[in-house]
Amino acid sequence: MSELLDAQACERLSIDEVHDLYRRHVSRSQVSLIGAFGFGRELVDHAEGAWITLRDGRRVLDFTGGVGVLSHGHNHPRILAARERFARRRAMEVHKNFLSPYVAALAHNLAALLPGDLDIAYFPNSGAEAVEGAVKLAYKYHGGRRGTILHTDISFHGKLLGAGSLTASPEVHFPYPRLPGTDHFAFDDLDSFELALDRHRTREGSDVYAVVLEPFSASAVRECSEEFLRAVRRRCDELDIVLVFDEVFTGWGRTGTLFHFMRHPGLIPDVVTMSKSFGGGKASISGYVAREPLFRRAYDNLADATLHSTTYYGFGEETVTALEAVAIAVEDDYPARARHIGERLGQGLAKLADTHSTLVAATTGRGGLHGVFLNAAPTRLDRLVRLLPASFARDPQLRAKLVTGAVVGALYRDHDVLTYFGSNHGLPLIVAPPLIVEDREIDLFLAALDSVLDKGAARLVAAFVKERASA
Ligand SMILES: Cc1ncc(COP(=O)(O)O)c(C=O)c1O
Repeated sequence: MSELLDAQACERLSIDEVHDLYRRHVSRSQVSLIGAFGFGRELVDHAEGAWITLRDGRRVLDFTGGVGVLSHGHNHPRILAARERFARRRAMEVHKNFLSPYVAALAHNLAALLPGDLDIAYFPNSGAEAVEGAVKLAYKYHGGRRGTILHTDISFHGKLLGAGSLTASPEVHFPYPRLPGTDHFAFDDLDSFELALDRHRTREGSDVYAVVLEPFSASAVRECSEEFLRAVRRRCDELDIVLVFDEVFTGWGRTGTLFHFMRHPGLIPDVVTMSKSFGGGKASISGYVAREPLFRRAYDNLADATLHSTTYYGFGEETVTALEAVAIAVEDDYPARARHIGERLGQGLAKLADTHSTLVAATTGRGGLHGVFLNAAPTRLDRLVRLLPASFARDPQLRAKLVTGAVVGALYRDHDVLTYFGSNHGLPLIVAPPLIVEDREIDLFLAALDSVLDKGAARLVAAFVKERASA
């Protein structure tokens, strides 16, 4: 047997050794893929706030928001302190024979912060688990008598088998077995929603047990209109359909209200899901919160009390971290921070779209979550595309990936700014800084993007392809 590695040994591994271990024991293609976009050649030493420090001392401004996880920034001091205190107390992580005061308190706090009778919570560990928990709850509420669940045509609800079968993003492109009875309608399109309801009309009313919907799609950076959301709510009430809002990404202030749906007073889903920054950037915790009557009818009897659970549900340090993450989001008014970021960043991006109108097709977004859609049509790209292997050329999103990937690459290589691009039906450059970001950091990002866009699509892609060829 080869020597076992401990944490200190990890910190001494070189990048080549990490590549080698990944290739042998994790995924060769993951190493190749990250390399194809110009990443994966450096290791991180540490990260704090909006900044990542690499092993060679280079500092990188992180405008990815950790794909939704890092609203509090990296290693927020209050989050670290809460976790250290919990460890010092030798507190207990898991036991099924004792009730947890932390789970009780976290569920109480969510009920206090969410509107209406969204009062009963369950805390698994990932976004997909929260979504699947909500789906099971809705199915059980109807006693198994209804068989259809609706989602949208640009949905992203996770990649587990259940959540994945409700995900319409091209990211999930293999025909895995699906939940039975899924059907979809066009995002933010009331006619399409009504047609979907019609398809599943029954003599008693409807066969639909749940509608799962992102009021703001983080992966496509598009939001539903208030009119649409209120109409969906009304139709779900009329037909006794459980309405699930998936706010795994947008929860805890990201778009300028505590949850995105809360920008519309009186609009309340039957279940809301959350994750990502709920764990303060440190804990893998998610949750769903359900309206009380729904939960009581579905599970509130002794026979069904443990029908849905997971081993790590309500794990100690995860829950204590979420308690602190929520307290920070409320006390430091993350929704107001997001609105401020939205103004400064939104105005800056609109100006850049104006200045670089041949390259920037559109900008969308709100609060701390924006998308920059780049124009991938220039004919000068044809020559470059022809140079690529045939397997690449078959990808219908290749041109958009090349242009947006080239911008992400140039921001990182030339300006020490980290961004990423979405992988839904559009491929926007996603701009989602931590909500603790300062004005000067927003300005730094905007100046960097201005300078990158100045180069134009053809030069950016040529440099990107050349660099990949020589890597
Ligand atoms: C809206 C939404 N729902 C669900 C998920 C799935 O979460 P996880 O990757 O933790 O399973 C995501 C992840 O990005 C998401 O953005």
